[in-house]
Amino acid sequence: MPVTTCVFDAYGTLFDVSAAAREAAAEPGRETFAAHWPALAEHWRRKQLEYSWLRAVRGTHCDFWQVTRDALDWAMEAEGLEDAALRERLLQLYWQLSSYTEVPEVLGTLQAQGLNTAILSNGSPAMLEGAVHSAGLDDLLDAVLSVESVGIFKPARAVYDLVGQRFGCTPDQVLFVSSNGWDVSAAAAYGFVTAWVNRAGAPMDRLPGTPAHILPTLAPIPALEIF
Ligand code: LAC
Repeated sequence: MPVTTCVFDAYGTLFDVSAAAREAAAEPGRETFAAHWPALAEHWRRKQLEYSWLRAVRGTHCDFWQVTRDALDWAMEAEGLEDAALRERLLQLYWQLSSYTEVPEVLGTLQAQGLNTAILSNGSPAMLEGAVHSAGLDDLLDAVLSVESVGIFKPARAVYDLVGQRFGCTPDQVLFVSSNGWDVSAAAAYGFVTAWVNRAGAPMDRLPGTPAHILPTLAPIPALEIF
């Protein structure tokens, strides 16, 4: 079956999750933070993902905004940063992350090719709406699907089921794109056609499910010979 529907992970795939810390560090009066921001961003993202997986396994779901705040608190303490104003600023910037430069053109080209486009993300509906709007992507997405409608984080199968429920397609009609190796491997095992956007040149995760395509950015997607 040809692919009819292109579904994207949000954070790290469409939106640059390091942008909040990087932009805060560049603001006047944040000279001390300049040395800390790369480690802070790394800890923040890593803990955010760990907390999402652990809450899924433990059956203690809360929304991704809570997980994001908890992870930031851990990361700030780990970096010895006690600064309530910085914390507020980082959280504010998380609602307006920039998208990677190629994103608007890729989504527009896919839509022009007659494909459905969507986000499937751990993000809460409000977080996703904020990021989509601030990046100017509202008209380039046919659906923004949040795990909040099933109450468990990726990579639970119930999350991937949301795509077929929304678009009435089979898994092999879906191209699922993620920069997260663990997400793309679960999506491949689920039966989606998959593309791993490996911007950082990371090693492949040793998990069941192998991505069909490995790309340096999103730019090559419209030319993949799967449509
Ligand atoms: C998301 C996280 C996993 O957007 O990046 O779902």
